Amino acid sequence: MHPSGYDRLQSQVIPGYGSLARLAVALLSCSPQAQQQGSSVLVAGCGTGAELLEAVAQRPDWQLTALDPSDEMLRASRERLADIPSIRWHQDTVEDFVAGETAAGGFSGALSVLVLQSLPDDGSKLAYLSALAKCLQPGAQLVLVDLMRSSLTSLEPQLEAAWEGFQRASGLEVTRDQLPSVGLHPIGLARLTSLVNAAGFGDPARVFQALGFEGFLLQRQG
Ligand SMILES: C[S@@+](CC[C@H](N)C(=O)[O-])C[C@H]1O[C@@H](n2cnc3c(N)ncnc32)[C@H](O)[C@@H]1O
Repeated sequence: MHPSGYDRLQSQVIPGYGSLARLAVALLSCSPQAQQQGSSVLVAGCGTGAELLEAVAQRPDWQLTALDPSDEMLRASRERLADIPSIRWHQDTVEDFVAGETAAGGFSGALSVLVLQSLPDDGSKLAYLSALAKCLQPGAQLVLVDLMRSSLTSLEPQLEAAWEGFQRASGLEVTRDQLPSVGLHPIGLARLTSLVNAAGFGDPARVFQALGFEGFLLQRQG
């Protein structure tokens, strides 16, 4: 996805996108480890910088590390946060970062917003979640926000139509096969639970939902 127009497109597609990052940071900010002053926090898949902007506004004391494998996204993010010299930037996936990072296990918290959904469930989702778990101290929390497959199968046609209606009402004029959700790999709650447990987290606690977009708190097991 190209960074220009990214934020507008996301807010036309994702109900509540404008406050997702604010909510994710507020949730992590109250977690047992990341509430401490000067906590080190990982922002995985920082994209154009929405979570970083919120983190800097809400928790200027946090030591932030921002990761994204996309040169264009990382550059857009760095430009937006150019006046914050303390952020560590890495053009990397979390998987490669943790493989080369000597300080693995040192983070007090992490944010992963709309990243897991883009990875296929062929070992890639597990590798990503395992890498995030390795980055965290035992007991530290990850805020995970992602497009999920609905468990409300009888309501699926209505929810799908409502989502299309939301996008049309937001001014997005695309056909079904042009939707930005095409090509994503959402999974259901049972599958997410089994993947996060295998990665080293406890069961996911759902803390919010807007249509298919759900937010979870995950705790790194000791
Ligand atoms: C849909 S964007 C979300 C960006 C931002 N978190 C937001 O909510 O606006 C997903 C981002 O994840 C990045 N990404 C994809 N795979 C990744 C991985 N394995 N590790 C870290 N970032 C990844 C992509 O380059 C992209 O910038």
